[in-house]
Amino acid sequence: MYYILVKMTWVVGSWVLIGIFVSGFCLYKVMKKNKEEKQRKNGIPRGSSGWPFLGETLDFIACGYSSRPVSFMEKRANLYGKVFRTHILGKAIIVSTDPDVNKVVLQNHGNAFIPHYPKSISELLGKYSILHINGPLQKRLHALIGGFLRSPQFKAEITRNIEKSVQHVFSSWMENQDRRIYIQLESKKIAFEVMVRTLMSIGPGEDLNFLRREFEEYSKGLISLPIKLPGTRLYKSLKAKGRMLKVVRSIIEQRKMAMEENQGKGFSIKDVTDVLLRDTFESSDETQPRLPLDSISENIIEMMIPGEETVPTALTLAVKFLSDSPVVLARLVEENKELTRQKAKSGDEYNWTDYVSLPFTQNVISETLRMANIVNAVWREAVKDVKIKGHLIPKGWCVLASFSSLHMDEENYENPYEFNPCRWKKTGASINSNTFTPFGGGQRLCPGIELSRIEIAIFLHHLVTTYRWVAEDDDITYFPFVRMKRKLPITITPIVGGTMEER
Ligand code: HEM
Repeated sequence: MYYILVKMTWVVGSWVLIGIFVSGFCLYKVMKKNKEEKQRKNGIPRGSSGWPFLGETLDFIACGYSSRPVSFMEKRANLYGKVFRTHILGKAIIVSTDPDVNKVVLQNHGNAFIPHYPKSISELLGKYSILHINGPLQKRLHALIGGFLRSPQFKAEITRNIEKSVQHVFSSWMENQDRRIYIQLESKKIAFEVMVRTLMSIGPGEDLNFLRREFEEYSKGLISLPIKLPGTRLYKSLKAKGRMLKVVRSIIEQRKMAMEENQGKGFSIKDVTDVLLRDTFESSDETQPRLPLDSISENIIEMMIPGEETVPTALTLAVKFLSDSPVVLARLVEENKELTRQKAKSGDEYNWTDYVSLPFTQNVISETLRMANIVNAVWREAVKDVKIKGHLIPKGWCVLASFSSLHMDEENYENPYEFNPCRWKKTGASINSNTFTPFGGGQRLCPGIELSRIEIAIFLHHLVTTYRWVAEDDDITYFPFVRMKRKLPITITPIVGGTMEER
């Protein structure tokens, strides 16, 4: 009898629990549906918030690891339209795969949006980083850096310096007995050298090696858990940043003393450090916001982030796409050999214009940037309610302007998965295009566009005229950053009489 009672109580209890669970679930579904209905009426785009807490994060990450990361966007754009709502990485966000909406977000007239980064990145960026700041100070910093990187003196100087860095790294390959190198690692060496020269005029040597080691440690924390306790990834990265700051501060101190001696006059600008320092001296226009002096060193280090990870990826993926497309490679070799012949005949040095005047090479660069999707999207947070093309982005929500969706959309590019530099022949790669935005656009358009393109052009010119290579099988992975799974190993054979050998 007692046994039957216990059993019955257990059965009834189980049914009650199941009942509570089912009605709870139904209630949750009804409330969610009502909330979504209300949001839709307000103009918030259609979409799904996915699972409680997790949202649609798992599918987002799974697509990121696949060979077609845009499939996350494609699936939802087909269901809900080019602008849709989702919930990923703990945030309700609106995703735009619409070029017109992306343009409005990037232009940011009315300052409705501020940048949004994961917490670990925000911690490592610091409060004065150009990627973080908004308003007049960001505009000022952007104009200073952009103005310097576009100046004729910088262009002339950096052309020689990039050639030197390429030469320096290429010559080390010949010391390698089996002539097998990892392009992903080698391209990082070149790009880091160029970046540190651009920022602080530091050439190969102790300081460069120190900064390289510490920057590697620093950048490992960009995607990490936002916990700053001793032993955690973020903590180690912040320590590495502290060690880099010491070197940079001492350089700035020396430069500052020299400037003070000259009262900021008659000082030739060599690098970004000089540009920022000089700005703290000039007082002709007091209405312009100025960067506080003590933030310059932090800013210099933080500026390595947008430049350091991106260019090596472009160099690596260019080699990958060319290795897989022998016909394109043959045309590239032909165009670049012709430049070598002309230079040998005239005896002139190479200059910036020589490299940017190679039309097919420029198309190879554009096509690489389109397919590589190195910065696949930008995230912004709305600081007020914004309506774009009838879609409401409510205050406090994030919007993700997807660049890769535009670059891999049939509507914008025929056979988007085919590496076809000839597609750029007619259109060219304009920075005003709404559907080609590897460098972003509007207020925060990358100031490193020309520097990146010349770096890729110089690297490709000397690679294809100095070496032949055979690449091993390797695949691209897209999450959290674009990179090669095996770092793209290639085996090189020097071309007799190649450009680097002659010079
Ligand atoms: C292939 C190489 C590169 C790609 C694909 C790239 C891409 C981008 C993109 C998409 C943005 C916009 C971010 C946003 O809107 O939030 C950006 C910003 C920026 N990039 Fe680049 N970049 C590259 C190389 C460089 C280089 C070499 C430099 C070095 C000077 C650089 C410096 C910057 C800076 C300082 C910003 C921030 C601009 C601002 O917020 O005002 N980038 N980059």
